[in-house]
Amino acid sequence: MCGIIGYVGGSSAEPILVEGLRRLEYRGYDSAGLAICNGGVLTCTKVAGKIARLEEEIDGRELPGQCGIAHTRWATHGPPTQDNAHPHTDCSGKIALVHNGIIENYAYLKDTLEKEGHVFTSETDSEVLVHLIEKYFKGNLESAVQQALQWVTGTYGIGVVAVDDPGKIVGARNGSPLVVGIGNGEYFLASDVPAILRHTRQVIYLDDQELVVLTKDGLRTSTIADNEAVTKIVQEISWDVDRAEKEGYAHFMLKEIYEQARTVSDAISGRTVQDDGTARLGGLNLTDEQLRSTKRVIITACGTSFHAGLIGEYMLEEWARIPVEVEYASEFRYRNPVIEDGTLCIVISQSGETADTLAAMREARRRGARALGICNVVGSMIAREADGGVYIHAGPEIGVASTKAFTSQVVVLSLITLLMGRMRHMSVADGQRTIAALRALPGQIQTILEQADEIKRIAKIYCEHDNFLYLGRGCNYPVALEGALKLKEISYIHAEGYPAAEMKHGPIALITKHMPVVVIATKDSAYEKVMGNLSEVKARRGRILAIATEGDSEIKNHAEHVFYIPPTLQALTPVLSVIPLQLLAYYIAVMRECNVDQPRNLAKSVTVE
Ligand code: AGP
Ligand code: GLU
Repeated sequence: MCGIIGYVGGSSAEPILVEGLRRLEYRGYDSAGLAICNGGVLTCTKVAGKIARLEEEIDGRELPGQCGIAHTRWATHGPPTQDNAHPHTDCSGKIALVHNGIIENYAYLKDTLEKEGHVFTSETDSEVLVHLIEKYFKGNLESAVQQALQWVTGTYGIGVVAVDDPGKIVGARNGSPLVVGIGNGEYFLASDVPAILRHTRQVIYLDDQELVVLTKDGLRTSTIADNEAVTKIVQEISWDVDRAEKEGYAHFMLKEIYEQARTVSDAISGRTVQDDGTARLGGLNLTDEQLRSTKRVIITACGTSFHAGLIGEYMLEEWARIPVEVEYASEFRYRNPVIEDGTLCIVISQSGETADTLAAMREARRRGARALGICNVVGSMIAREADGGVYIHAGPEIGVASTKAFTSQVVVLSLITLLMGRMRHMSVADGQRTIAALRALPGQIQTILEQADEIKRIAKIYCEHDNFLYLGRGCNYPVALEGALKLKEISYIHAEGYPAAEMKHGPIALITKHMPVVVIATKDSAYEKVMGNLSEVKARRGRILAIATEGDSEIKNHAEHVFYIPPTLQALTPVLSVIPLQLLAYYIAVMRECNVDQPRNLAKSVTVE
């Protein structure tokens, strides 16, 4: 995720672009840049670091021109350096482009373009786009963009300018948001409304596979595939800036819950190989031989990332038959762990900065383990110090309660498992089945999100209770832990996660009609056992809310309330079953008037011991 802004009109572009970037900084902030056309000259200024650094860089210099594009980056391909910052320019330095998204076939395109003589200056996937546009440019920018995009697979929101087709911005969208702002003799292109709200409230939302041409005299929207004109509805924005940064959602946490169909898709994107039924993960820095000879995996992390790790343990043992231990980083760092040859340490951290996790990783490496980081924040400490890793590509997570990072971490762990599993006992057919199930997840998440009102209704019934028990078995036990953590964190309700069968060894003493029990009871190998556990709760007059698989009518005999999720492979169930629990915690916290995005006593990154 990153932020794009473009301006064409009668005013100086530079201050408008910089102010717009500031409003988009929540979308990413590891590097920034802008490109402005003035007469026959294109000036491109970019820096590594935050937008404040870009302002320092520009300070005192004249950047005249009334047409330009700018970008604040959240790197996916290539570290956050000045060279990798956007805008990217073509070989002649006359065309500039900003991009939000991931070009899946960039390696192939880059190779082809290099053979044709194009010279690349960055490690990004995005740069291929500007060279492709250069290849087709014959004086008309929209036609070049349209032709170039026919070759591209992946997600994009782009803004392009060219000095040889002056006073024009071309935008195009597929999977990454783009909005057009309509002013008086001026037009704006942005990733999100707050970037332009100071200048206009009249906007057009581009849809996927659409292209827009902006000049100071007007705009034209068309389809990318065949350049057919598309009529768009102009909408009036009535929100204030603060709300708009949350894209209309009341809280960042809710926005991030809703982003999950896309973030899960981004975590999978370009990382599966259908024919071989396996995964392709570029940054592991491990040879096939090292992967094959891994004898043991240690997963270490904190909080929500730790819960994802527990699901990783289940997957790796089930599919790849590798022994796994999962340990809280805060404990691991002070133990005297036995690390033998062939030990791989997987370190999971959204922020990549958590002090305990970083220290645990250093300890494991000191003792000879190779460390793989699963991080969200590009260029963070853990990502830099690990021997290799996989980014989850979830975009900035701002709500303190982690949501979208969790589902993407689980997906990345499943990809690592798929890769290692296929090198061992997993058949091609099983690999392909897993890929199909992974690819179905975004649509299934969307179905769940569309039923959020049902969870809201249930939340209203339960929101007065002060204690909750969450139960699950197998790979849904960590989901029970995660559901309980979400509720504790943001609504300050006491909640405990337990393996369903362990309940009878103690917590059952707590069950009364005042203790709601949330149970993940999906149709899998543990289903019958979980039904037995539910009978035990019911016999003690406990109230049960069950997360169940679509089509399961038997569950209604056991649970007072049921929320259904679509069926998937057992090991992938957590990606779906956690979503209603995130929503439940969210709605209960809102009903109890808690500060959802900044709960008391917590911090987003815990960089102290
Ligand atoms: C989750 O909602 C938390 N706020 C917290 O437990 C978090 O997961 C933990 O601090 C680990 O953070 P990290 O993933 O950035 O390392
Ligand atoms: N993939 C591009 C890059 O890494 C764009 C990043 C983004 O959209 O966040 O530069």
